[in-house]
Amino acid sequence: MSRLSQRPADPVVGESHAHESAAGHVTGTALYTDDLVNGHPGILHAYPVQSPHAHARILDLQVDAAYDIPGVVRVLTSADVPGVNDAGTKHDEPLFPDTDGGEVMFVGHAMCWVLGETLEAARLGAAAVEVDYEELPAVLSLTDAILQESFHGAQPTMLRGDAASALAAAATDPGQYTMSGTFEFSGQEHFYLETQASIAQIDEAGQVFIQCSTQHPSETQDIVSHVLGVPAHEVTVQSLRMGGGFGGKEMQPHGYAAVAAIGATLTGRPVRVRLTRTQDMTMTGKRHGFHSTWSVGFTDEGVLTALDVTLTADGGWSLDLSEPVLARAMCHVDNAYRIPDIAVHGRIARCHRTSQTAFRGFGGPQGMIVIEDILGRIAQTLDIPAREIRRRNFYCPGDRTPYDMPVRHPERLDAAWSQVIDHAAVERREAEIARFNATHPDRRRALAMTPVKFGISFNLTAFNQGGALVLVYKDGSVLINHGGTEMGQGLHTKMLQVAATTLGVPLSTVRLAPTRTDKVPNTSATAASSGSDLNGGAVKDACEQIIDRLRVVAASRLGVPPADVRFSRGLVTALGTDGSLTWEDLVGTAYMQRVQLSASGFYRTEGLHWDASVMQGEPFKYFAYGVAAAEVEVSRFDGSYELRRVDIVHDVGDSLSPLIDLGQIEGGFVQGAGWLTLEDLRWDDGNHDGDRGSGRLTTAGASTYKIPSLSELPPEFHVELLDKAHEEGAVYGSKAVGEPPFMLAFSVREALRQAVAAFASGDGHAVVDLPSPATPEAVYWAVERVRSTAPVGS
Ligand code: MTE
Ligand code: MOS
Repeated sequence: MSRLSQRPADPVVGESHAHESAAGHVTGTALYTDDLVNGHPGILHAYPVQSPHAHARILDLQVDAAYDIPGVVRVLTSADVPGVNDAGTKHDEPLFPDTDGGEVMFVGHAMCWVLGETLEAARLGAAAVEVDYEELPAVLSLTDAILQESFHGAQPTMLRGDAASALAAAATDPGQYTMSGTFEFSGQEHFYLETQASIAQIDEAGQVFIQCSTQHPSETQDIVSHVLGVPAHEVTVQSLRMGGGFGGKEMQPHGYAAVAAIGATLTGRPVRVRLTRTQDMTMTGKRHGFHSTWSVGFTDEGVLTALDVTLTADGGWSLDLSEPVLARAMCHVDNAYRIPDIAVHGRIARCHRTSQTAFRGFGGPQGMIVIEDILGRIAQTLDIPAREIRRRNFYCPGDRTPYDMPVRHPERLDAAWSQVIDHAAVERREAEIARFNATHPDRRRALAMTPVKFGISFNLTAFNQGGALVLVYKDGSVLINHGGTEMGQGLHTKMLQVAATTLGVPLSTVRLAPTRTDKVPNTSATAASSGSDLNGGAVKDACEQIIDRLRVVAASRLGVPPADVRFSRGLVTALGTDGSLTWEDLVGTAYMQRVQLSASGFYRTEGLHWDASVMQGEPFKYFAYGVAAAEVEVSRFDGSYELRRVDIVHDVGDSLSPLIDLGQIEGGFVQGAGWLTLEDLRWDDGNHDGDRGSGRLTTAGASTYKIPSLSELPPEFHVELLDKAHEEGAVYGSKAVGEPPFMLAFSVREALRQAVAAFASGDGHAVVDLPSPATPEAVYWAVERVRSTAPVGS
């Protein structure tokens, strides 16, 4: 077993501990970026001027009237940018569109910001700014973008075998079927409870200090330094904690931080940017909706033989993370299934909408929904239970993915699948459901099971590194810093447990400092679920360096060879002797001997490689697996449904912190169910009755955009962690957990498909076309279609 993954006796990792800020979260003492405003007398408030047009040229922008408003201090426009006027890493996102001939690219696009003594003064100032526009043609929907061939970025292809020939052969083979379809599905608003927020201030030496709700402090630092035209060491970014990020704070915060930084630089006063909910929803990127066209070949037993699929992501106006999101979608179109001949084509549509971005799963869900949709249809076409069809197509030991990565430990998927069938009493309940459906006039139930296989690591190999700085003070107390950020997912709790385990001290001995770029440099985003893998590896490395030094000190005091010294829960002992020392005593001795008591740690994930030009390689360290069973009940009168029961078995390796992991699995699942069933992003794209559409996001608040709440939770919700799942070569044998459970929610969508089909008349069966999100309205119409068409095989 490797040093990284092996656990000592009696480790603190593996214990269930409450989230390190749980008490603060529920009592309100945990602070978020915007709560820090009180600590900044004289702070200025920023308010944006947003575009009413989806696409227009700015002919003239007059700010004089804003200065007539009492309390308006400064209006920031493109003319005020000291460095590079760009907030994106792809250099296609002007921070401020040029006031003289620049373009606004979507409804809500901010073109200048007003700073005021109060938020109200800034708001009134923004309303007083006068803009002359020349409206330009706009691409308002994904379908329009495809028709007009409006694309940006690369158009990658992933190939294995010869999908075209295999499909042609399947079409003429009496033992095989082919099927084709088009499926467009919706994106998702992050709806983090804390909207985007930044506070910038300048210190006595002219250094810029930014408190920012960001998942990626190092990149916030980079962008701000480019915009200001100063080197990175002039800018420090701190991310105290986020009230949720979900990917929406990986790239999106940088521009707002830069606006605050320019304001602070120009006025010498602290500046606060905090978006209202509607500003946040109309300005920031969302999960990419996708369009897909597919052709599939399969045997009469439902075994997949070939797939040709084109995935087109709604990238919005700028590229942002659309290319890596598309790459992950393409790498997950197989989900857990072997597809011998396969061709996957990817494109990114450019349209006049917000620039879509990372969101939990990072394209993975958008790839996987396509194959789950296809398998749901194949099952109904062949009239074989979907559960059976899915199982028949699972990867087996020795198989490789379409991008030529070996699928390691697929037997864990089998184990999780069997455990769900067993613990959720699936067979008994299926019989009960059949009886219910046979006797009930207008309600139908169904149970569906779906698997998840999700690759862990950033596709781009270079991002797979982490850093930490661990300080042991003379009194034995420990302070850790690491490059990851806390957004509620419990990363800090896990890092405390890792440090306590490696140093052999109680959890209470270790404290954690907020994430800052002047403590750990050049960090990667806390994203791709790899926060604990990367930062845990780095924290462990730093702690090991300190332990290796302390071991020598302890060995001489206890009179044993260094290798025989053991550290556990604050006590330092030696094999074969009764002697012992307290941790504090040992640290005090080490200090007097002038032994260094701090260390910076580093970790990089070994064994990864990825060739983006041919979409082949081993981009992932390992796969996280999970299985869910969901039971729903649908009413035919209004399409309303209930999620009656959910059972999950999920693979987190040897859990670092089981309570945290259970929270991530439950939360991820519910957020996934929200995407697939409730959250209905609507844009006024005008594809109705000859109306051109405005491009406005019509669901720009909690009143029109429904996220899951307590009432949507299944009354029975059982989550288990897969046993005996040690992951060799990962920190203390653990696996990432942040994103994979999101995709367990396909079980809900597939259960709805099956329940709708159960409304078919007579003995026949129906193939259900289910939109996504499958809102009650969509389910209602799906039921109507099933009831009004002659069933297949009747
Ligand atoms: N959990 C909470 N409570 N809040 C969040 O914002 N973000 C998710 C996931 N779980 C998120 C969350 C996303 S998108 C990712 S990539 C991971 O957490 C990031 O953290 P990790 O790498 O530490 O798992
Ligand atoms: Mo998560 S979408 O990788 O921030």
